[in-house]
Amino acid sequence: MVKRRVGVMISGRGSNLKALHAASQAEDSPYSIVMVVSDNAAAPGLDWATENGIPTFATSADDGREGFEHRIHAALEGMKVEAIALAGFMRILSPEFVARWQGRIVNIHPSLLPKYPGLDTHARAIAAGDEVAGATVHVVTDKVDDGPIIGTAEVPVEAGDTPETLAARVLEAEHELYPQALAHWLTR
Ligand code: GRF
Repeated sequence: MVKRRVGVMISGRGSNLKALHAASQAEDSPYSIVMVVSDNAAAPGLDWATENGIPTFATSADDGREGFEHRIHAALEGMKVEAIALAGFMRILSPEFVARWQGRIVNIHPSLLPKYPGLDTHARAIAAGDEVAGATVHVVTDKVDDGPIIGTAEVPVEAGDTPETLAARVLEAEHELYPQALAHWLTR
């Protein structure tokens, strides 16, 4: 099978990156991760990628979003990336960047969208008294945490959950969901 060339964009620890990479090692995986990009040169996930032989590219947005996105676009094109998986990438991409990659960017968000776009999703779910939380993989549009849903994972909220305990259980579910949803979307 010809594997689709996926670039993963991260800002931090990269646990979803690791889960995506682990699944990509299967012979029948429809994708392979050919590059990891970050806005944060100190992201632990970048070190992990390097240790695992995945090319990385880090660049700062300090000089403005236009140049930053231009450099990222060039790096991804240079590696012949076909699709982008955002995995804890903490910046909002411009409508111009999203348009250049129209329908070729997916994201994982730690809530059951359309509930709780943005930050502090677990605290908001607990404060609302929700019985079920979870995560969503969706196609990226130029609206934040919006766009066609590819897959969801539901996680029960337990009595006594704090945002941290709930986040940890949702994160485990994310690691199952993201590789499956990405593979499903790439072979749709
Ligand atoms: C995850 O909870 C993901 O849903 C959100 O950011 C977090 C990234 O975690 N978008 P990691 O860097 O993959 O460990």
